[in-house]
Amino acid sequence: MNLTSKAATILDRDAPRDPGKPADLEFARALIKGLGNDPKSIPCRFLYDKRGSELFEQITELPEYYPTRTETAILKAYAEEIREATPTGALLFEFGSGSSTKTEILLSALDRLAGYVAIDISPSALEEATGRLARRFPELAVYPVVGDFSASMKLPGEFASTPKLGFFPGSTIGNLKPGEAVDLLANMREILGTGSRLIIGADLRKDRNILLAAYDDPQGITAAFNLNLLARANRDLNTSFDVSKFEHLATYDSKLGRIDMSLVSKTAQTVRVLGHEIAFAKGERIHTEHSHKYDIEAFRSLAKNAGWTPARVWTDDKALFSVHELRNRA
Ligand code: TRP
Repeated sequence: MNLTSKAATILDRDAPRDPGKPADLEFARALIKGLGNDPKSIPCRFLYDKRGSELFEQITELPEYYPTRTETAILKAYAEEIREATPTGALLFEFGSGSSTKTEILLSALDRLAGYVAIDISPSALEEATGRLARRFPELAVYPVVGDFSASMKLPGEFASTPKLGFFPGSTIGNLKPGEAVDLLANMREILGTGSRLIIGADLRKDRNILLAAYDDPQGITAAFNLNLLARANRDLNTSFDVSKFEHLATYDSKLGRIDMSLVSKTAQTVRVLGHEIAFAKGERIHTEHSHKYDIEAFRSLAKNAGWTPARVWTDDKALFSVHELRNRA
């Protein structure tokens, strides 16, 4: 079977997008809109260009950044329990697959799958990951889909009665506001259909110092990652940000259980952005990302609001991170 044309089928039918539209144009529009807002903001999905993805990989290896290694350990420890509940011939469906590193844990554990559908906005990440998976799991049918998983998406009819297992690791759900998170979870339930399950990672609330260190490491990798957003705008859109005149800031709101990331203007300055002159006051912030942390019960009720039935929850012994199993009951 030709996987590429297969993926194209899934994509064409389900995620109508303008094929002639360059990614830069999308970034340009978002930048103008976001910098025109008060307070200023830039959507977090633009953090992940090639350089941003490399820096994020480095973040995941920092001693302070516990989420990636903790979630990986949880998945390894409980892969067998996940396997037990997954019927043979299921279709594994990952939202925002990136490098598909954590997926390999499931792929090694699960019995004969009908296939693995990897959805991601980055074509280069998909290409790299599917090539690697094809070598490691030669029997596996891999369906790469370049797309935005928040859009509606319908699977080709041939998969209608195939049992589906969704996978959404990384606590990306925390990067949405709770209302948006419910909408996304409901959309995933819609895509996966009745009888499906979803394995999803959610970062837990904890001591603020542990959280703050994870989002502002002493080596400055996180700062470089956040600041890369402005460097990317200069590279791709020829804006005039002086990156040295901005600094990374992470704060924690313990009431909301939310880390807020922003870039702070160190001085009063004006930046040329696609024909606009954007003025910054000294200390003014550009908001770049929220990262919500959830207690186990709070996350389960969020999932319920999206129509899921929460099932098992796995965590580590320090209660840093949680992996939830959600069911879409018939
Ligand atoms: N999704 C990641 C998280 O919330 C992204 C992230 C980690 C991030 N560190 C960052 C985003 C710093 C912006 C700035 O954990």
